Amino acid sequence: MGLTDQLNKPGDSNEITRNYFNSLLIEMRHFDSVLPSTELTLYGETFKTPVMMAALSHLNNVWPDGMVEMARGAKAADAVNWAGMGDEAEFERITATGARTIKIIKPYADHDMIMNRIEHAERHGAMAVGMDLDHSFSGNGQFDEILGLPMSPKTLDDIKQFVRSTRLPFVVKGVLSEQDARKCLEAGVQGIVVSHHHGIMRHAVPPLMILPRIAKVINGEMPIFVDCGVADGYDVFKTLALGATAVSAGRVIMEPLGKSGADGVRDTIVRITEELAGVMGRTCSPDLDHIDPAVIWPTEG
Ligand SMILES: Cc1cc2nc3c(=O)[nH]c(=O)nc-3n(C[C@H](O)[C@H](O)[C@H](O)COP(=O)(O)O)c2cc1C
Repeated sequence: MGLTDQLNKPGDSNEITRNYFNSLLIEMRHFDSVLPSTELTLYGETFKTPVMMAALSHLNNVWPDGMVEMARGAKAADAVNWAGMGDEAEFERITATGARTIKIIKPYADHDMIMNRIEHAERHGAMAVGMDLDHSFSGNGQFDEILGLPMSPKTLDDIKQFVRSTRLPFVVKGVLSEQDARKCLEAGVQGIVVSHHHGIMRHAVPPLMILPRIAKVINGEMPIFVDCGVADGYDVFKTLALGATAVSAGRVIMEPLGKSGADGVRDTIVRITEELAGVMGRTCSPDLDHIDPAVIWPTEG
């Protein structure tokens, strides 16, 4: 056993993120409270909930054609669906479910491939497209390679080109700094996902810890999405209070998907949304645009 193993791998970003969620407490407000609305308006469309799918992929070992089944669950819950890596045929089956879907494309080194994927997503009814920029590098300082396909980092000009190539909103996934948030604004990006890609790098700052700063940079210019470790409606409430427009739930829907398919996905989104509404009612938060960040109390955890 090497020294690193003996030290029990400190700095697991998922654990740090979970602890950070738990360290945030919520004050209660009761006077003049009203029945809360969890309705989300995004890119001109409305949904019942700000709880969205995450940009997952490769779910066939969870459920047959798992990405499509997840989309059915999202559609049944009237939630925004996301799709990560996957071929064009799968994406066509996903959008054929009627789920409004944001397609995230890998930062392939081959820019023609990226342009083709953007064009394909647009043609097949994607709601928005984007890129998980945090997958350019692997952990050893080399450019990443996924399923034999090489990745590469992207410049501001590259992102501007992707933005210009489509009439769909273009989203950058994996923003975890004020610097990148500013560059997204400069590139004309129309949405960011504050995320460390379920712990792609150890010691990564929890998305919620940096979210208020990023929200200040973005200043309402585009929607801010957040993922990583969201487990329930309390997590969603804290994330919205600190500046998110909507929140993605990834791994938490995988077990229900594996057990009950689309019904399991739908029920999980409904459960999380009901918990969110419960907290909104008890904090005098009438709707998603009126959650006072001052109800969140940081502790030492
Ligand atoms: C099985 C699986 C596949 C994933 N595939 C992708 C992908 O293709 N593209 C992407 O941007 N993110 C991908 N992700 C990352 C998720 O979109 C998300 O950032 C991450 O899981 C954090 O959210 P969670 O903690 O709620 O799962 C994947 C995650 C999982 C668990």
